[in-house]
Amino acid sequence: MLSATFIVVVVIVCIVTKSSYAYHFQRIITNRRSLQMIADGRVPLMGGNWKLNPTSTAAATSLASELAALTATTKGVDIVVFPPSPFLVPVNSVIQNSNVKLGGQNCYHENSGAYTGAISTCMLKDVGVQYVLCGHSERRTLFKDKDDGINKKIKKVLKDDLKAVLCIGETKDEYEAGLNQEVCAIQIMKDLKDITPEDMSNVIIAYEPVWAIGTGLVCPKEVAQDIHKYIRSLIEKKYGSEIARKIIIQYGGSVKPDNIKELMEMPDIDGALVGGASLTAQSFALIVNYNQ
Ligand code: PGA
Repeated sequence: MLSATFIVVVVIVCIVTKSSYAYHFQRIITNRRSLQMIADGRVPLMGGNWKLNPTSTAAATSLASELAALTATTKGVDIVVFPPSPFLVPVNSVIQNSNVKLGGQNCYHENSGAYTGAISTCMLKDVGVQYVLCGHSERRTLFKDKDDGINKKIKKVLKDDLKAVLCIGETKDEYEAGLNQEVCAIQIMKDLKDITPEDMSNVIIAYEPVWAIGTGLVCPKEVAQDIHKYIRSLIEKKYGSEIARKIIIQYGGSVKPDNIKELMEMPDIDGALVGGASLTAQSFALIVNYNQ
């Protein structure tokens, strides 16, 4: 039987979040972590990082429109896709009036000028982008993005009222040496240097162990939970408990339809940043709709 406290909590949550009772009852009953998350004001975020894919406008718009259709009735999850820059405009045109939002994979910290190959946040914003990835491990390793540059990007993203998705995580050697916490602590300290508490409502952290990206190796859910909890504790130390409770911390690294549910059962995992499995609309939609 539902207890009186439970009903009172759900009613308060519904009033605060302006959502339907039926929806929250269903979510809370089917997902044991939902109540805490809703109470903390965290909405799961599912991101599809398309990387250097697909290779044509037609394929990009078809992927985006199929995803928009498959998530038309999705509730209680934020969805964002990060297409390659040339496809931002056409993808944006097919996700208008859908539940899917637009993200940029990278940016530069200047607005304009002699910076060949760079893309600025004002340009991204102008074409409908709301989220920007900062410090993805492929940028860090292949393109030599360094923490001070990532910090500048994040500041620029936030200055222009966009949301920054800061990607952090350790390499295989660091994981095997038991250094995952240390690596995340250093990246957070450097990448969020001088970011104010007010700005933190527009910061999302994606914990992506480098050894799990594109390898099919998923970080065991308990290990992922421990590190997410640790990252939240770092945010609490730096910004206080209110901000720590509200920040979205995604997991990334070989997320698939068959492992998303168990990851999302972990109390500090608030969504996923998905590479390979976001390249087909059906598999990404299954991830987005993990709760149905
Ligand atoms: P993956 O990529 O899902 O293909 O492992 C994740 C990422 O790089 O964000």
